Amino acid sequence: MEFFVRWHWFTALLLLLYMGGEVQSSCREENMQIQGGSYTLTKQLNIGSMLIYQCPDGYYPSPALTRLCQANGTWRPAPKKFKPQMCKRVECPDPNVLEYGSVNPPQEKYFVDNETTYECYSGYTLRGSSRRVCLPHGKWSGFTPICSRDSDNTCPDPGVPAGASREGNIFGIDDTVKYQCGSSLFLVGSNERVCQENGQWTGQEPACYYRHTFDTPLEVSEAFGAAIKGSLTTLEPTDDTQEGRIIRILKNGTLNIYIGVDISESIEEEHFRNARDAVLQLITKISSFSVSPNYEIVFFSSEIFEVANIIDFLDKKIKDLVDIKNKLGTFQIGDKNTAGTDLNLVFKHFEGKMAYIKQRVGENSFKEHRHVLIIFTDGAYNMGGSPAPTVARIKNMVYMNQTTDQELKRKASREDYLDIYIFAVGVDIFDDDLLPLTTDSATDKHYFRLKNIKNLQETFDDIIDESDVKGLCGLHKEYDTGGNIRKKYPWMAHITFKGLRNKCFGSLVTPKFILTAAHCFKFGDLPEDVAVDIDDGQGNVKKVKTFMLHPNYNVKAKVNQGVPEFYDYDVALVQLEDDVLISSNLLYFCVHTEQLLLKDQLEALSFLTKTDKIKEKNVRAKLGDNRDECIRHALQAPGVTTKNPKDVVTDSFLCTGGLEPQIDHIACTGDSGGAVFKNYQQRTVQIGLVSWGTKNLCGGGGVVDSDKTSRDFHINLFRVIPFLKSILGNDTQNDYAPLQFLNN
Ligand SMILES: *[C@@H]1O[C@H](CO)[C@@H](O)[C@H](O)[C@H]1NC(C)=O
Ligand SMILES: *[C@@H]1O[C@H](CO)[C@@H](O)[C@H](O)[C@H]1NC(C)=O
Ligand SMILES: *[C@@H]1O[C@H](CO)[C@@H](O)[C@H](O)[C@H]1NC(C)=O
Ligand SMILES: *[C@@H]1O[C@H](CO)[C@@H](O)[C@H](O)[C@H]1NC(C)=O
Ligand SMILES: *[C@@H]1O[C@H](CO)[C@@H](O)[C@H](O)[C@H]1NC(C)=O
Repeated sequence: MEFFVRWHWFTALLLLLYMGGEVQSSCREENMQIQGGSYTLTKQLNIGSMLIYQCPDGYYPSPALTRLCQANGTWRPAPKKFKPQMCKRVECPDPNVLEYGSVNPPQEKYFVDNETTYECYSGYTLRGSSRRVCLPHGKWSGFTPICSRDSDNTCPDPGVPAGASREGNIFGIDDTVKYQCGSSLFLVGSNERVCQENGQWTGQEPACYYRHTFDTPLEVSEAFGAAIKGSLTTLEPTDDTQEGRIIRILKNGTLNIYIGVDISESIEEEHFRNARDAVLQLITKISSFSVSPNYEIVFFSSEIFEVANIIDFLDKKIKDLVDIKNKLGTFQIGDKNTAGTDLNLVFKHFEGKMAYIKQRVGENSFKEHRHVLIIFTDGAYNMGGSPAPTVARIKNMVYMNQTTDQELKRKASREDYLDIYIFAVGVDIFDDDLLPLTTDSATDKHYFRLKNIKNLQETFDDIIDESDVKGLCGLHKEYDTGGNIRKKYPWMAHITFKGLRNKCFGSLVTPKFILTAAHCFKFGDLPEDVAVDIDDGQGNVKKVKTFMLHPNYNVKAKVNQGVPEFYDYDVALVQLEDDVLISSNLLYFCVHTEQLLLKDQLEALSFLTKTDKIKEKNVRAKLGDNRDECIRHALQAPGVTTKNPKDVVTDSFLCTGGLEPQIDHIACTGDSGGAVFKNYQQRTVQIGLVSWGTKNLCGGGGVVDSDKTSRDFHINLFRVIPFLKSILGNDTQNDYAPLQFLNN
């Protein structure tokens, strides 16, 4: 990323001119302090060094975000005596723009954690959020509140986003509304929207950003994920064989992806590696879709460093992505020229490739090519001029020069064929230069503002999970999430009870339901005695609406048969008052089908335990011929007098524990109700839930080894599916599939 501001190249020139002269070769560390924060220097006090201010979460540096050490040894911008550098509380744009309603409390300024509520005047109804909180990245939670009245208008009242003003109050076909942002704010999204025949506004709702407003990785993954997935799934090239040759390239729907990563100047090795890994992650993720795009991948400064040449794809020289990934993974800055940033050069480079493709495949086939341009930069280009004219030519090429009004509609239909995404990354971002380069789109956001690129790999990893959350249960992260348990076990929940009772584990199986063990509940427990602890970013503790134990669960059912506690059907579902927010951090489980499990005599499974931290316990379910030996130990459980292990352990249980063939971990008090799961690549499938064991070897919890005779029994979920379906099968109020049953 170019951390330099754009005058730096002539700073370099000045340096040359003054070489040998009496030039001060460094800046002074005077008046650099920031109240409430700290700063770092990219090259100590040397010329060209960039001073970057840091503030705690919820604060931003003001008046400057960064300072640059200029050739004559002064800082730009210079520290001001009367405007001391300080960490200011992040502000959210003014919400008092609501029409036909009131905002509470009315304030001049709104800061992080300030809460607002919205009410409409009588006769008007509210759409959007009635309560919003100012978030640390400078945005309001929820959605723009809009007060509107029933009317014959074609389009709904589009509202006024916080910080903005709107021109245009008629919402019939072809009526236009225009938006502007207040002072110190800039607009991201569509500044103009037109009401269409179908009752929808063109473009996207704009938002007003401060220079301290950023998109969170989650927002990026949601928006970019949905967008890129749109590109990937509308295209399903069929490898048609014609005259014995695969002619995919000439088939309908070729997807070309062009990626440019700014590596200029002061880019630190770490930043560069982060960007590179993010791209790697992106193409890996994309390859999990059935489409195989052609790639052009370059790093750039004032020069282009090509890693993947799209023409090789065109020539079918590239059969898989292994080579590209290797090249990407091993790409080093080394002694490459990183001086200067020529953003225009990248766009010209991509334009050139597109023109070549067009010439190669012919105008007609080119019409069927879609192009996705993805650029990572801070926008501080200092050579090559503005990329805007190049971008205009690219648009023309893809939109087929359709500029006259009659052809606007056809142009609109061509808009699907070009997407330009900009990931604006850095402390100091040149939004004004970057914003016009993206493509406007009715559905998707194309401009992303990221505070740093550290999270980018994670962001891209989130992309697919996020957009597929509804379809792919049990996804989790493969890589080290830095101790973020939530990402590794996104379905984990804790059930808590009033009083000093042990907590139980549970697993999220739909946005509303937690699966746990029936024995966690005591006779007479009421929903208000129970709570669910699960972090969806909206506060941890969830209220419980009701809970349902399996109707056949009866711990005393076999007292007379020598089984003092009988745990068959030890399963319960807890229904939450409100849905949890399903996100990449919070996913629900898949439930297996039996075939999946019973393939082997032994099945490696895991469940969780909690002491100070969440840890994973590893066990092997003894199946088939191994089962009888395993459940035999149930007879040694306290108080059991029956001689038939099957009286105690019905077919509904999985058996784990013992020392053979490996030492298993043993379940502890507090592990109850937790998911017994199996990991498949990126998916986790819940097989059972922790129910009971023969020995209490670990009252205090923790990862404890089994001994020779200790055995644990886990409810095999496959055996309680009718119960699960009877309750979850009705949970169809939302888009999420109630429960995923995997077949293979
Ligand atoms: C230092 O250089 C900058 C830019 O070249 C110029 O604006 C500034 O006035 C100079 N300051 C001094 C003290 O020479
Ligand atoms: C809004 O936030 C500011 C800064 O934290 C605080 O001083 C003020 O009391 C808050 N206002 C309300 C109504 O919470
Ligand atoms: C692509 O498909 C459309 C309809 O699906 C068809 O009209 C068009 O001719 C096809 N183009 C090519 C190059 O095959
Ligand atoms: C499209 O416009 C470019 C210049 O912007 C021109 O060179 C080209 O010939 C035009 N193509 C068509 C098909 O009109
Ligand atoms: C689910 O639906 C079935 C049939 O429609 C009904 O019998 C059952 O009581 C419902 N369960 C719940 C929990 O609402």
